[in-house]
Amino acid sequence: MDEIFVKTKEMERVVAEGGSDRYSNKVMTTLFFEPSTRTRLSFESAMSRLGGKVIGTENAAQFSSTIKGETLEDTIRVVSSDSDVIVIRHTDIGAAERAAAVATVPIINAGDGAGEHPTQSLLDLYTIKKELGRLDDLHIVMIGDLANGRTVHSLSYLLANYNKIHISFTAPENVQIPTYVKKYLDEKRVSYEEEHDLEKVAKTADVLYQTRIQKERFTSLDEYEKACGKYIIDNALLSVMKKDSIVLHPLPRAGEIAVEVDHDPRAAYFRQAENGLFVRMALIDKCFSM
Ligand code: NCD
Repeated sequence: MDEIFVKTKEMERVVAEGGSDRYSNKVMTTLFFEPSTRTRLSFESAMSRLGGKVIGTENAAQFSSTIKGETLEDTIRVVSSDSDVIVIRHTDIGAAERAAAVATVPIINAGDGAGEHPTQSLLDLYTIKKELGRLDDLHIVMIGDLANGRTVHSLSYLLANYNKIHISFTAPENVQIPTYVKKYLDEKRVSYEEEHDLEKVAKTADVLYQTRIQKERFTSLDEYEKACGKYIIDNALLSVMKKDSIVLHPLPRAGEIAVEVDHDPRAAYFRQAENGLFVRMALIDKCFSM
């Protein structure tokens, strides 16, 4: 991760200098079976800024042979020969791992259902490092749909690599952090708690990491509505937070951060999204320089 962050800093410079053509002979395929704005476009922009070509589909469920009954494995075997790297987002947990098992080129997981979203977490950590100057000795509060939100699963795993981390999980009753994530943190001896009082944990937080209630993952509208609107970050909450703290969100937001918060210097979520480009350039570069 340290290596990726050094490379990411270098990529900020590459973009400022107008990009590079170092991968003009390479092709990236983006296969997205779920909607995306930021992730797909930042991967495509990252590849373009390194001189590479991008092919793919933003609606692979409809516009690929999946609709004809082709398995993910067969699709990946074939797409491997068209590509030097494949970026995949899928509805199923473990899909990227299945793809990697049959691919002959690197696979990057851009989100596998309610499973993981590792590239998002790399950009989250890069943002924390850039904003607060450190990745050790942090109190992070993860808020919202911690059951279905894949970004918080990956972020918890990555944070376990650092020292003096304390995580507060603040979620509505029906979307708590999964047991398997807690088990991993126990194994890695990471300190955490489940706390329903957001104001209490916000007072000592270095990072508030807010997430959207993942409507598309619910099977009942009633359950979705139960989870909605319980934790909203607004100026009143900001007023109890430390001056040198930050608010992050993987975006898109759907009302869980009030627009009034955008004007506060601690609102770092748009700067966070911008860092996605640099981190993804670093990852592409890593794939091709291995
Ligand atoms: C997230 C995702 O797709 O998991 N979005 C993103 O990639 N930035 C979060 C979400 O959809 O709520």
